[in-house]
Amino acid sequence: MLELSLASALWPVAFTLHFLALAQAQPSWQQYVRSPPSNIVHPKTILSNYTKGNIKNADGLVTGAATTVFTRVSSSDETPVLVVDFGQNVVGQLLLEFAGSANGTSQGFPGIRLAFSEALEYLTDRSDYTRSDRADGNPPKIVTTGTDQVAVKNRQYTWEDQWGCEYDGQVCSDGLHGFRYVRISLDALTTDAPYASPGGQVNISSVGLRWSGYLGTPDTFTGWFECSDANLTQWWYDGVYTLDMGTTIFSANDTEPRDATSPSLLGKLVLQDGAKRDRDPYIGDLAVSSLTSYLSHDTSEASLNILEDLAAHQRADGWIPPASIVNYELTLFDYPLYWITCSWDYVFYTGNTSYLDTHYLVMLKILDTYYPAHTDNATQLLVRPDGYGDFAFLPRPGSAAYYSALYVLALNKAASLAEFYGQPADAARWEARAAAVSQGFQNTLWDASVSAYFDRKCDGCTAHAQDGNSLAILAGIANATTASAALEYLAGHTARFYGNAFYDAGGDVLQNGFSDRVYAFISYFEAAARFESLDAAGAISMIRRTWGWMASQDPGITHWEGIGTNGTKYEAADTSLSHGWSTGITPLLTTYVLGVKPTKPGFSEWTVNPVVTNDILWANGVVPTPHGPLEVSWQQNQTGKLIVTVHAPSGTTGTIGDPGVGGEKVQVSGGRKTVVTLG
Ligand SMILES: *[C@@H]1O[C@H](CO)[C@@H](O)[C@H](O)[C@H]1NC(C)=O
Ligand SMILES: *[C@@H]1O[C@H](CO)[C@@H](O)[C@H](O)[C@H]1NC(C)=O
Ligand SMILES: *[C@@H]1O[C@H](CO)[C@@H](O)[C@H](O)[C@H]1NC(C)=O
Ligand SMILES: *[C@@H]1O[C@H](CO)[C@@H](O)[C@H](O)[C@H]1NC(C)=O
Ligand SMILES: *[C@@H]1O[C@H](CO)[C@@H](O)[C@H](O)[C@H]1NC(C)=O
Ligand SMILES: *[C@@H]1O[C@H](CO)[C@@H](O)[C@H](O)[C@H]1NC(C)=O
Ligand SMILES: *[C@@H]1O[C@H](CO)[C@@H](O)[C@H](O)[C@H]1NC(C)=O
Ligand SMILES: *[C@@H]1O[C@H](CO)[C@@H](O)[C@H](O)[C@H]1NC(C)=O
Ligand SMILES: *[C@@H]1O[C@H](CO)[C@@H](O)[C@H](O)[C@H]1NC(C)=O
Ligand SMILES: *[C@@H]1O[C@H](CO)[C@@H](O)[C@H](O)[C@H]1NC(C)=O
Repeated sequence: MLELSLASALWPVAFTLHFLALAQAQPSWQQYVRSPPSNIVHPKTILSNYTKGNIKNADGLVTGAATTVFTRVSSSDETPVLVVDFGQNVVGQLLLEFAGSANGTSQGFPGIRLAFSEALEYLTDRSDYTRSDRADGNPPKIVTTGTDQVAVKNRQYTWEDQWGCEYDGQVCSDGLHGFRYVRISLDALTTDAPYASPGGQVNISSVGLRWSGYLGTPDTFTGWFECSDANLTQWWYDGVYTLDMGTTIFSANDTEPRDATSPSLLGKLVLQDGAKRDRDPYIGDLAVSSLTSYLSHDTSEASLNILEDLAAHQRADGWIPPASIVNYELTLFDYPLYWITCSWDYVFYTGNTSYLDTHYLVMLKILDTYYPAHTDNATQLLVRPDGYGDFAFLPRPGSAAYYSALYVLALNKAASLAEFYGQPADAARWEARAAAVSQGFQNTLWDASVSAYFDRKCDGCTAHAQDGNSLAILAGIANATTASAALEYLAGHTARFYGNAFYDAGGDVLQNGFSDRVYAFISYFEAAARFESLDAAGAISMIRRTWGWMASQDPGITHWEGIGTNGTKYEAADTSLSHGWSTGITPLLTTYVLGVKPTKPGFSEWTVNPVVTNDILWANGVVPTPHGPLEVSWQQNQTGKLIVTVHAPSGTTGTIGDPGVGGEKVQVSGGRKTVVTLG
């Protein structure tokens, strides 16, 4: 059933005036934006239940009404401690405005020690993570023993947390931090004598933060999303904010300390993996985080910088490093495949086809030199070489399903780029290889006893993993029957109240707790596989559990690197609680609920095909394209029909609807508004 009408290009004058009046009001989606209003951020509250020792006007740090006075006459007095809460996870350099200080009885300026943390459960007298805790490297290690130190001068001045030491190797600070809470104490390390002492008086007139991420205020959004469910809508913006925290200029003094500082990245805009750590851009993470970037902000340059830099470090055998860490020598087996899928995303979302002029041969070498050398010619499956890991350093040597499924996805994406780039022979060769690997995969890895793909085949291996099954579906290895059986298996054997675990119970043989661990990163692929298989209810259910759980926990808003048993932070204090690879909610809602995908580079051709549940009544949004904004809105009426309005930019064409969901396919041109009823 289908109806088609074209709205008049010439709107009545009265309607236009009404529209202009509305346009001046704040669009409703802007209420969900999480960015601070400006580059200097102030704390929201003092956690008074943590306040100890002699402190006057603690609230002054929030109200600004009075100077806060820390006094500790001698080091035997209780340490004055105060905890400020920024109200949400933030990133940058702390600023302390000192209104004066007086020395105590022992020699030296009164000391201030700072301990940072993203979540209150890991707030202690040392930071939840400091770069100093990690190995010597580039930049060279400094020793902070877990806190940042200040020797407060006897005058009025503003101190900014900078990486380095105030004196030769003493009174040291880590510089940038990703955190929500800061514990401020009047104290000093004994190793900082005689410059700083644990006594005296320190007056502080304000605490602030110099924001180091991308300041994603409402005016910076190039794409947006809103739907009838305010929780889903909010999590779309939470994903954007999480990524904004790590969208930054690559700088030597705040990067991952294990030899990640690279001259070819310095000064460039990048997407760091996390705000707190590792602070290095990884190519696998871009499979999700670049999409969040393309769909929300004009920051595609960051993805390009990473793709180009890693391509420039391609090894003679075709392998591409996952990131700059350990001088580009961290050996991951899966990440070169993401370089290919991310190249496809870059070209299709931004339309920068000249990228292929400089990078086509890089792709050719990955696919035709590196992976064939690591293929088991009997099964056609990839074999992970010794000494190589993957996105989570999983102890699964040999032919894990995930590697070959991702390989097929990359071969198909590469074939699509080759087709576009006028290289039909390469496209045909890669498609043929994808078909052969798919056949080998189905023959070797299908576990008919449970109707899902094995994680890998070996004596005693009984695990089934989220990554291998989800990617087998997205890569087209599974047909509709095996796909829905595998998804049903995952739903029945991995569902937790905080998401779907990345392994079934068989995974606990690899490492205890795997069947209770949730990666929002890999969950992105399962949710996408569910939408592609028209299981919108299953996708929305796991989205609500995964992102809803993180939203309901401290620090709130930002998306975690991993979730452990019973919904905990999977690596305790070390867990990054703002990690771009976990922002899949943003591309999932735009791609499947709003329903917009590019089918030619730069959206010169596109599809709009919402896959919805009956509890989402409407959605509105904009997808940025190089031709201009692509606007979509739809409502579901009581009989479940979808009334879809699309206003695509001139110079583009697309189709609305999909015969697969019971609708028809309507071909339309951009430049005018089209209304279609589907269902
Ligand atoms: C202190 O108060 C905060 C909220 O104000 C609460 O979340 C936290 O659990 C309390 N901590 C302690 C140690 O009492
Ligand atoms: C700190 O502020 C208090 C209250 O304004 C004032 O009495 C005291 O002299 C100040 N101390 C220093 C060292 O400036
Ligand atoms: C406080 O201690 C510092 C460091 O020892 C010293 O340089 C400074 O002169 C002292 N201030 C006063 C007012 O004595
Ligand atoms: C850290 O790097 C930034 C950018 O290069 C620079 O502006 C800042 O001064 C540096 N800070 C330190 C302590 O080197
Ligand atoms: C949205 O979240 C709140 C609190 O997290 C919850 O109480 C409410 O039921 C949720 N709404 C929907 C539609 O799921
Ligand atoms: C497009 O890609 C090329 C090659 O990678 C790059 O040099 C160029 O700056 C990119 N153009 C834009 C507008 O980003
Ligand atoms: C599989 O065959 C390819 C191409 O014929 C060859 O390059 C590769 O070394 C073989 N793989 C193994 C593991 O022997
Ligand atoms: C799907 O694949 C399975 C396994 O190869 C096969 O047995 C089945 O016939 C296929 N179903 C369809 C509808 O093609
Ligand atoms: C799991 O968390 C719930 C609250 O979310 C708690 O009641 C329960 O005791 C926890 N179980 C374990 C094994 O930690
Ligand atoms: C839903 O929309 C269809 C198509 O416009 C229309 O035929 C039908 O009457 C509508 N149903 C309701 C309950 O509004």
